[in-house]
Amino acid sequence: MAEKIILKLGGSVITDKKGDCKVDKERIRALANEISQRTDVFPIIVHGAGSCGHPEARRHHLDKGLDQTNRAGIFVTHHAVGRLNDAVVNALRDSGVESVGIHPLDACTAKKGRLISFNCETVELLVKNGIVPVLHGDVVMDTEQGACIVSGDQIISYIAGKIKVDRIGLATDVDGVLKDGMVIPSINTESAGELDIKESSNTDVTGGMKGKISELLSLAESGIESSIFHVSRTGDFLDGRDHGGTIVTK
Ligand code: IPE
Repeated sequence: MAEKIILKLGGSVITDKKGDCKVDKERIRALANEISQRTDVFPIIVHGAGSCGHPEARRHHLDKGLDQTNRAGIFVTHHAVGRLNDAVVNALRDSGVESVGIHPLDACTAKKGRLISFNCETVELLVKNGIVPVLHGDVVMDTEQGACIVSGDQIISYIAGKIKVDRIGLATDVDGVLKDGMVIPSINTESAGELDIKESSNTDVTGGMKGKISELLSLAESGIESSIFHVSRTGDFLDGRDHGGTIVTK
């Protein structure tokens, strides 16, 4: 039976972070092609927003919640990341991988920025029927603050707690978690505390590498390891080879 994996495609690897919702179609096509060549892994794909969602969320300060001035941000942000989701799904389908987009705005609710509900049965049934679910970071309605931004990393951490997967990997634009320019092969809560991991760049509303690590550490605490590697090593990750990145472990 194929290994069930969660693969996150970071927003910065599938969009041009400098452009305004500039989808990197070449990169997406190459990743879809890598995925289509493997029959012994079955992925649940989660992608970030990059320049298709972060600037919009920032402009409408949705990470701070909803007020009378920023309600339009819900449509604008969701629409931007939805365009990127369509591009990923279309590329997978063009490569022969049957897939469909699942949108957290429609499927989830949050409380103070944390997911409190997400019916994962749809994802499970899609997988069971051989259809690759493609989820993404999104604006989500929030019982306390009106709305919030839920990162792809938080989605991973939530679904990995509900659906049993064999491996989790995050393809990023860096080689892994770095210290003095060198990749740290593995980190846990203790060693991560000693590192000075960057907070976020100015358009990243979900905390950049720091936000990512904290999601993955809480996942590791519950016994589920994950890997962070450079997007060029995605094939190695899919094949279960050394990917040269960082393993987040207990
Ligand atoms: C962000 O998701 C979602 C929105 C801003 C709508 P992520 O935080 O997972 O995106 P990247 O991977 O950092 O771009």
